Parts: sequence; C-alpha cells; structure tokens
Amino acid sequence: MYRTHTCGELRLSDAGKDVILAGWVQRTRDLGGMTFIDLRDRYGITQLVFDMNTNAELCEKARKIGREFVVQVKGKVRERSSKNLKIPTGDIEIIAEEIDVLSSSELPPFTIENETDGGEELRMKFRYLDLRRPCLRENIILRHRMAQEVRRYFDSHGFLEIETPMLIKSTPEGARDFIVPSRLHPGTFYALPQSPQTFKQLLMVAGFDKYFQIVRCFRDEDLRADRQPEFTQIDCEMAFVEQDDILKTFEGLAKHLFREIKGIVLEDDFPRITWDEAMSLYGTDKPDIRFDMKITEITMLVKGKGFTVFDNAGYAGAIVAEGCSEYSRKQIDELVEFVRRPQIGASGIFTVKYNTDGTIKSSVDKYYSTEELAKWVRAVNAMPGSLILIIAGEREKSLSALSELRLKLAGDMGLRKAETFSPLWVVDFPLFEWDDETQRFYARHHPFTSPKPEDIDLMETDPAKVRANAYDLVINGIEIGGGSIRIHDSSVQKLMFKVLGFTEEEASSQFGFLINAFRYGAPPHGGIAFGFDRWVALFAGEDSIREVIAFPKNNAGRDIMIDTPSPVSKTQLSELMIDIRKP
Ligand code: AMO
Repeated sequence: MYRTHTCGELRLSDAGKDVILAGWVQRTRDLGGMTFIDLRDRYGITQLVFDMNTNAELCEKARKIGREFVVQVKGKVRERSSKNLKIPTGDIEIIAEEIDVLSSSELPPFTIENETDGGEELRMKFRYLDLRRPCLRENIILRHRMAQEVRRYFDSHGFLEIETPMLIKSTPEGARDFIVPSRLHPGTFYALPQSPQTFKQLLMVAGFDKYFQIVRCFRDEDLRADRQPEFTQIDCEMAFVEQDDILKTFEGLAKHLFREIKGIVLEDDFPRITWDEAMSLYGTDKPDIRFDMKITEITMLVKGKGFTVFDNAGYAGAIVAEGCSEYSRKQIDELVEFVRRPQIGASGIFTVKYNTDGTIKSSVDKYYSTEELAKWVRAVNAMPGSLILIIAGEREKSLSALSELRLKLAGDMGLRKAETFSPLWVVDFPLFEWDDETQRFYARHHPFTSPKPEDIDLMETDPAKVRANAYDLVINGIEIGGGSIRIHDSSVQKLMFKVLGFTEEEASSQFGFLINAFRYGAPPHGGIAFGFDRWVALFAGEDSIREVIAFPKNNAGRDIMIDTPSPVSKTQLSELMIDIRKP
C-alpha cells in the first residue's frame, strides 16, 4: 500500500493514528535537531518531522532529500505545537518513522509555488512541473468541475452528448482551417473543425432535438490572451425552438454554473440589448456592464461654433468619469496617450471638468461659452465633480476609442471588480459584414444564420441593413458564447449564398451535404456555442485562457514542451506526395 491518506486529509481528530503518505517534497527545513519536510500532493500539504534525538539515522536520511523528490513516509499523526492556520492540515504533523525515496528529482528549473520565479517560456517547457503549482492545479480542478456541472445540467434537461468528427472538409468561410493531408487519397486534405456547426445541424435533421458536446475546435488565427489555435467549446443545438427558448435554456445553464461553481445566485433575467444599442452606448458588441459610464452622442450639440475639429467630425461622443474632476494635467495626458496608441488610433481627447463647486472648465473654452458647455453637461447627465471626456472623428473609430477609454478609466477607478459578474445578451447582430479588401459581404456569424424574417426583403436590396437572429452571451466584457437561429428554408439559404457571392455550384460543392439534408425535412432549429476556456478563465479570475488549459500553445502557436509544429520525415512527405518548397 503506497498511502493510507492524502496530503490534504489529516486533521486534529486523526492525532495518534499510524499513517502512510506519499507525495512530492515541497521543501526541507533544518532547524538544529529537527528536520521538517513539507510533503505535497494534489490534495494539499502535510508537515513531516524528523527528530535527531529520537532517530538520528532517519533524520540524516531526510536531510539528503531534495525538492520534488517523490517519497513515501510512515509515521504517527500528532498535534502541532505551532499551528499553521493557512492550510487545512495546519493543526497536525507526522512524526516520521520510515522514509523511502520512490523517485529522485533533478533541481527543478523554477520554484513550484504560486509566486514562481519561472517566466512563461520556462513554465511552458516544463508544463508538468508548472501544473504542480497550486494555482494551476486549482484551475484544472475548477475546469473539471465546470465540465461535470455542464453535463449534469444538460443531462437533466434531456440533452444528448453526441460526438462529431475531427477530420472534416475544408470550407472557405470563417477563420483559416488547419488542414491534414490524406495518405490514401494523395493530393487531398481533411480539415480540423473550426466548430461542429454543420454536424449539429445535421443532428437536428436526424431528429435528435437537444444536442450538446464539450468539444475541441481548431482555428488558424492570430493568437491573443483569449484565443488558442485549439480551444474547447460547449457546443449546443436545439430543434423546434425560437430565439427566446434558446436564450432561456442557456441562461439556465449560466445560472446553474454560477450557483454550483461560484455560489452566486442570479435571480433576475439577464438584460438583453440589441447590437445597435451596444455599439452606440458602449462602442463595442461585448460591453462590460459591471459599471455604467455609457457613451452619449453629442455630435449635433458641438457643431457649428467654429471649432473645425468638431465641425468636420462625423461623430462626437462623451463619457463621464464621476468623481474625477480633479484629474491632473498629467493624468489626462496619459489618457490622451492611451487613445493615441496605434491599436486605438484616436487623435485626442477633449475634456470638460464639471467641478464640485458647479464651475465648468474645458479644453475648448476658446470656442464655447459657459452656457454652451452647461448644455453639454446636462446632455451627458454629469454630476458635479465629474470629468467629461469627448472623442470626435469618424463614428465607428470614435466609438471604439471611447469603448477602450471607458474600460481603461473604469480599471483605473477600480470599477471592474473581479468578483462581480454582470452577464447580458447582445441580440440582433447584423447578418453581414462588408470587407473592403475583397469587396464583398461575409456572413458575420456563419452562412447558416437566419435573418430576421422582417428583414429578408432587404437581403438583395440593402444587405448591410439585414439583422440576424443571432445572439452573444457577454460577461464582464468577455464574449463567452455566440449562436443563432438557423436557416431551415432552402430558398432563404439560396439567397444567403447569393449575397455571399457563391455560385450554385460553389455552394453545392462546399455545403451540398447540408443543402441536401434540408431537402428531407429540416426542423426549425438554433443553437449556441460557449468558449469553455474563456468561461473557466473568467471563473478562475485569470486574464489568459492559457492558465486554464493543461497543455496550451504559447502565443506564437507553438508547444515548446513537445516542440511542435516541427518538420516530418522525407518518407512521410513522400507517402503524402508533398514537396516542401524552400521559403
Ligand atoms: P463562435 O465562432 O462565436 O461560434 O464561437 C463560440 C465561442 O467560442 C469561443 N472562441 C474561442 N475561444 C478560444 N480561442 C479561440 N480561438 C476561440 N474562438 C472562439 C468564444 C466564442 O463566443 N458554431 C458557432 C456557434 C453557433 O452558432 O452555435 C461558433 O463556433 O467564446
């Protein structure tokens, strides 16, 4: 028997018991006649004691044991004289009677503690050591618990978990595919799924009216903190539903996870706002509504007073930072610098200080009278003591800059609290997105997303105005999930492909299987997919999804531990009939 208990298990009530523990040596401390070892496993840490006076030989042996050695120890539980309140086993220690080294360890390349001295590159290379750190271990356990709760919720609501293939067909829409060459059919390729989208729709045609899957997806896109080339979705689809049924069902999932995992009971329905409202009030389709600070458009108010910047601007918008009227020149300059960064690209910020004594001071005093400025103050609903920040220029760019500024300010003001969660649904996304480079419309979500029935007539006349039956779940400014009601009428699907510029042959060669399936009785259906990694990261309070994935890729898309991507042998390439061109 390797162990009778784990390293997180023993308590004061176990005092006097003979036990066997096994685990990793977190650290060894020599205090004169006593040697202490902190023994760690997945469950916690237990202190072992070796006493020079009672067993000198054993104590000598213990002293030679290094960090991360795997040992087995036999001994007796006793109450500790100096208790450690920080750990659950802190009331007891084990008086060791025997210790065996099961496996020795080289000196680890970084300290295996939450506050480690290892940089990200090093931690990724030795990920199995990184995963021994309590914070990462807790994240992986949290991930497991969330997956179990997802399954529990769906099972109790009649959903079936059904697997879909990983080797599928490459399609031109969406992100770039990862492709896999076929040996049996040289010159042809599979693609790894960007999502099981078409398969879950086929499952609805097949009659499984409630489907879910916790599934790996693959997208060859530029990486960010919230994006991995392979990531996990909670993928869902339902038949015989309208948008409202879907939002209710999956709001139920969200509430279930909040309750079971975070202990937070969300009583109210999640707010729903349209994409249009989200863009004009927050400048983004994923607003963080933990705090208010909405954008107010003041374009008409600021024009016509001879200030050319505002006169020439297509748009002017303002946000109000309450209690910030005392911001110094330096603080405001920092904000200006922030919005001028190339990623944001605004030319500057105009400010109006509405002081606590009721006076108004602005950076555009030269052009506007106090009465005029007072009108602005009223328009943006500012309270005395506020700083009003205005960005003007092209509408979309200004809104997006205001959105970034809003987040930055709220961060500085401590309004983005990690343990506050503010979910909402953003609905009525545009169906299409125009791309200047290729001069064509793309499906904003995917080509199977249904337009709002009242907008179908606009599909041929004014595609940019068509709204979709599409929705996103946003929590604290993070897009946690997105989905849509699907097209199940083949004439609307044809129209969709037409607007996207597909010929009938192209549509049939890419999506013929789905178009065919729809000829045999397709139920009305719709669904959603949640970014599982993002949801776990949100609950874990982590900024990067890498911290909640056991073996993630680094931000260059490499796994430096197993060293991939990497070349393959000439034989493999020749079997696949692939020649590599020199770069
Ligand atoms: P979508 O493309 O919006 O929808 O993806 C759903 C959710 O998956 C997460 N996500 C990612 N997470 C980590 N790394 C990535 N590279 C990444 N890309 C997306 C996001 C996103 O909200 N088939 C549709 C869903 C549907 O219509 O039912 C789909 O995949 O949290």
